[in-house]
Amino acid sequence: MSSRLRPGRVGVAVMLAASALAACGGGQSPSALDPKGPASERIADVWWLMLGMATAVYVVVAGLIFLAARRRRASDDEGGGRRLPLGENAFIWIGGIVVPTAILLVIAVVTVSSTADLTRAEDDPLRIEVEGFKWWWEVRYPGTDVVTANEVHVPAGRPVEIELTTADVIHSFWVPELAGKVDLIPGQTNVIRLTADQPGEYRGQCAEFCGLQHARMAFLVIADPPQVFDDWIDRRQAPPPEPAPGLAAEGERIFETSSCAGCHAIRGTTARGVSGPDLSDFASRRTIGAVTVENNRENLAEWIVDAQTMKPGNLMPPIALEPGELEALLAYMETRR
Ligand code: CUA
Repeated sequence: MSSRLRPGRVGVAVMLAASALAACGGGQSPSALDPKGPASERIADVWWLMLGMATAVYVVVAGLIFLAARRRRASDDEGGGRRLPLGENAFIWIGGIVVPTAILLVIAVVTVSSTADLTRAEDDPLRIEVEGFKWWWEVRYPGTDVVTANEVHVPAGRPVEIELTTADVIHSFWVPELAGKVDLIPGQTNVIRLTADQPGEYRGQCAEFCGLQHARMAFLVIADPPQVFDDWIDRRQAPPPEPAPGLAAEGERIFETSSCAGCHAIRGTTARGVSGPDLSDFASRRTIGAVTVENNRENLAEWIVDAQTMKPGNLMPPIALEPGELEALLAYMETRR
């Protein structure tokens, strides 16, 4: 026999596979194999079951190849062939038809029943609407005036039903730690159901290529204790405070009279633009540009003056401001929370 399967190589392959798997669990990016809610737990269980079955098949097939190679050598040495213990046809029936059918049946039953469970409506879910734009997310709470962007606030422990629509192309809503992926399709409303077991911050990502900044179309699901969530909603329903006279008030005037108001809305002002994110609670958001950069004064200044450098291709044009106007705008935005 010219080529032999060397056990040493198998060992190296198994070690490489094991280290690749280990890498999935760690690091900064959220992993679907580190579930933080019932939906993602169910998906992870299916994944592990399939990995287990695939590993068993691999071990058996590799073992048979190894045995066959050894037996062939032994029979070559003896100068004669040897019969398979079960007969050739029995081997083909069992290995080629019975076992694969059983494996596929198990996987089919598990995946179909899991999919049914994942799409089943829960009692008294919190309804949220999420609309995809190139390249950010609008988040609305039906029955309230609350509109925000790129952050989906949810009460921990309560089932959430999110209605997904898109303003332009196909996007996909994916929070690996909480649920599977559901696409946002033009002209259609899809629903994803999830529950965050514990309070925390869970990173989400658009999972369908949607253009230049697809990779920077991320978002955060922020799960709070129910009381904190209710307070969060109430604060956004109350009339927004007037900015104190001075720099912030001047900033509001600039916002309302400049190109800002053409694209953005801020509750309680004349700014009613709809092509960019609603900025009513901007100062309370963690990030700018759909998790492109941290939300701080320096990054906001850079974003206002030249958002194209930070996120090329987004709709926000460079804004020409008189000296002092930027300071006033920054002071004003810090009051919108
Ligand atoms: Cu939106 Cu990719």
